[in-house]
Amino acid sequence: MKYTIEILRQQDREAAPYRQIIPFETDDPQMTVATLLKTLNANPRQTDIDGNPIGKIEWECSCLQKKCGACAMRINAKPRLACDTKLGVFKSGRIVLEPLKKFPVIADLIVDRAVMFENLKQLGLWLEKEARHTKRGEEVAYEASRCLQCGCCLEVCPNFIPGEDFYSAASFVPTGRVLSELPRKDKAAILDSYVNKIYRGCGKSLSCRDICPAQIDIDHLLVNNNAVAVWKRFLK
Ligand code: SF4
Ligand code: SF4
Ligand code: FES
Repeated sequence: MKYTIEILRQQDREAAPYRQIIPFETDDPQMTVATLLKTLNANPRQTDIDGNPIGKIEWECSCLQKKCGACAMRINAKPRLACDTKLGVFKSGRIVLEPLKKFPVIADLIVDRAVMFENLKQLGLWLEKEARHTKRGEEVAYEASRCLQCGCCLEVCPNFIPGEDFYSAASFVPTGRVLSELPRKDKAAILDSYVNKIYRGCGKSLSCRDICPAQIDIDHLLVNNNAVAVWKRFLK
């Protein structure tokens, strides 16, 4: 099948973005966008639709198994993992690749997700003592630990604006794990941050749940966190 690949490119942080259209042909509908990008980069004779050399397309990957989140990008206007998106899904043959829009672009499809990690630091999400394990807590901790920190949920969250006060799902999912493992007496600071940085800003539309490539049970984690941080504390 013949594909038209459109890529929003940007040489570096300061450069102006431009769109490049690349013709591509494969008879393998199972080929992923990650393999497509590797194939384009491996072919020094690959040209764009005007016959110009395309140069190296910058993008990130590590595991290629839906486990690290590095390859997250917009594919046909939806945030997805390149290693988990097959070309055959797009019957029209048109595939548009763009960097995630809520983060600064480093180059082409690579973005700087520092704000997401800074938010986790601000929440103080780490354990300084041995974790507390309970059967119920373990289920929550396991589900929360599956977060890839890919940022796809931030892309679709109507309330997340980078650098502002609401931290969104990429923060409240890992919070679930720490809350389940911290002894009650050590939770106060995180619970207060949770109320201010997450609970108050979340509209509970759950667009984040619907887009999460790890299919984390975000709904359940949100209810659980809200119960611990708000309902059981203030509505006794
Ligand atoms: S919650 Fe899902 S979409 Fe959001 S960062 Fe974690 S894995 Fe990615
Ligand atoms: S439930 Fe809605 S507002 Fe809350 S984090 Fe998810 S997308 Fe954002
Ligand atoms: S390369 Fe790790 S999730 Fe795609």
